Amino acid sequence: MKQFYAKVISNQRIAPDHFILSFKTPHAMAKKVKPGQFFKIKVNNSSKPLLGRPFSVHKAGNNKIEILYKIVGEATRILSTKKSGNILDILGPLGNGFDTGLSGPAILVGGGHGVAPLVELAKKFANHNIKPVVFIGARTKKHIVCDKDLRKLGAQVHVVTEDGSKGRKGLVTELLKNKITGKNLKKPVTIYACGPKPMLMAVGKLAKDYKIPCRISLEEYMACGIGTCLGCAVKTRGGYKMVCKDGPVFDAKEIVW
Ligand SMILES: Cc1cc2nc3c(=O)[nH]c(=O)nc-3n(C[C@H](O)[C@H](O)[C@H](O)COP(=O)(O)OP(=O)(O)OC[C@H]3O[C@@H](n4cnc5c(N)ncnc54)[C@H](O)[C@@H]3O)c2cc1C
Ligand code: FES
Repeated sequence: MKQFYAKVISNQRIAPDHFILSFKTPHAMAKKVKPGQFFKIKVNNSSKPLLGRPFSVHKAGNNKIEILYKIVGEATRILSTKKSGNILDILGPLGNGFDTGLSGPAILVGGGHGVAPLVELAKKFANHNIKPVVFIGARTKKHIVCDKDLRKLGAQVHVVTEDGSKGRKGLVTELLKNKITGKNLKKPVTIYACGPKPMLMAVGKLAKDYKIPCRISLEEYMACGIGTCLGCAVKTRGGYKMVCKDGPVFDAKEIVW
């Protein structure tokens, strides 16, 4: 983990509310970063907003990191105005990330912007010749991102929207249940999920009911990002843990929802 100033390489809108920002990293950092780790980015020098915001690694390589973010408030709105050559104050990489001692088969589940870290994870699987099954869910078509990138990595991608404007209509967990109860499921399989808490709870419950190992990446409000302020505590069967330091990736069955 390192605090550094990074030059923005590009910052492109990829959907109405979603951008991909890439920044230069210090030597070799991009090679070492794990899928599921995150960076805390301070978007300006002022006290508004005071705190850096956490964003997962979307893609890493060639001395650069990409993050994929959705505009939801002040910091992400300011981030969306950054141009090539602007400098960002960054802390990271932070957190544990997904296990990379990977053995397949794997099911990846992403809800909303939670799909962002699954692209780097799918890349790691592709490097091990594992083609995961991926379920991407969002409210509407305009919130579906990364489906093309994941297909390019060889993943079998299924899209679900709540209003049926793209892919199947419904919830991502409905398709997940069909998959894990279906005859064609290759075992032993592991589920990796990132997205809103209600989705993660539902995915964790399905995994528990069908005895499938499941790793989830949690999002909590963060201040320090390094385990000292106790602001991102989450209750687990082993007591309170910090999402920033002990996570953000946890074994789903450890979480007390
Ligand atoms: C480990 C981690 C990884 C993340 N990775 C990504 C990513 O790859 N892409 C991405 O777009 N976002 C990601 N986020 C969420 C991102 O950090 C927030 O969207 C961002 O901090 C919002 O800042 P803001 O000032 O724009 O909005 P704020 O004004 O802070 O918040 C705007 C709205 O978003 C909600 N919100 C903000 N942060 C959170 C949170 N942590 N949990 C639940 N609700 C929240 C608020 O309740 C509010 O309704 C991640 C969060 C964590 C903890
Ligand atoms: S953000 Fe401070 S302990 Fe996690």
